[in-house]
Amino acid sequence: MIRVDHLGMTYPGGVRALAPTNLEFHAGEFTVLLGPSGAGKSTLLRCLNLLIAPSSGTITSATLGELKGRRTIRRHRRSTAMVFQQHQLISRYTALDNVLMGRIGYQGVWRSLLPLPVRDKVFALACLERVGLIERALERVDRMSGGEQQRVGIARALAQKPKVVLADEPVASLDPATAQHVLSLLHRICKDENIAAIVSLHQVHFAKTFADRVIGLAQGRVVFDGPPGVLARTALERIYATKEGTVTQHDVEEARGAGLPLPQFLPLQTLS
Ligand SMILES: Nc1ncnc2c1ncn2[C@@H]1O[C@H](COP(=O)(O)OP(=O)(O)O)[C@@H](O)[C@H]1O
Ligand SMILES: [Mg+2]
Repeated sequence: MIRVDHLGMTYPGGVRALAPTNLEFHAGEFTVLLGPSGAGKSTLLRCLNLLIAPSSGTITSATLGELKGRRTIRRHRRSTAMVFQQHQLISRYTALDNVLMGRIGYQGVWRSLLPLPVRDKVFALACLERVGLIERALERVDRMSGGEQQRVGIARALAQKPKVVLADEPVASLDPATAQHVLSLLHRICKDENIAAIVSLHQVHFAKTFADRVIGLAQGRVVFDGPPGVLARTALERIYATKEGTVTQHDVEEARGAGLPLPQFLPLQTLS
């Protein structure tokens, strides 16, 4: 369990990306963050991992208590894996070496400079097997397709033995069929391992397929929090009805996909 109380973020320069927010995330729950660009999805994910220091509020984990102090934060990060849109792999390394990077957090600095123990390699290979890439373990990741690279990214996250996975638009740069495959893999692994997953997505239909819970963000505020089954038209309007100028082409396509009446909330100049 991880809980945030009055968690807020205002960036230097004054952009309030997240209004003070209270939320709880549970083991085994697959949460999807929905919202247009600029809604605060990445900010919330970065705060949850303390990649950025929130400007207000606290984060509490069931195992570590309130997250403050370097030691506690380091332990929290070790049990919290990130999956990124651009997967952030080291391109000239093999899939196996990239997955082994997920184990580094468990080593001291000088220990990490020595060859890794065989059991780490065996575990990393098992992680690659989980994402269906065991035969490609020794291939450089820059020779792999986008979908395969993201599967390596998931294997690397898994190698961390995380309690929480934070994924920021993990399938945004993949074609729809590959995106579906990668997301179902991530979903299955998180369910099997009882991991709390918090995943930002652009596609409402993926949220409906995979989410136990949808959190809708608009302009830094939670405007919906519930199961996808009740993510009705009105809720989608609330999520995507943003102030003029923040609607992207992507949002327009989403709105179309969701069958929303475009002129009601989308400024026409964005429909270029
Ligand atoms: N490092 C930053 N410095 C200043 N403003 C930022 C920074 N990162 C994001 N923002 C602003 O915070 C708001 C929320 O951004 P973000 O969390 O990236 O939203 P999303 O991921 O939903 O697109 C936006 O207005 C964005 O421009
Ligand atoms: Mg983002």
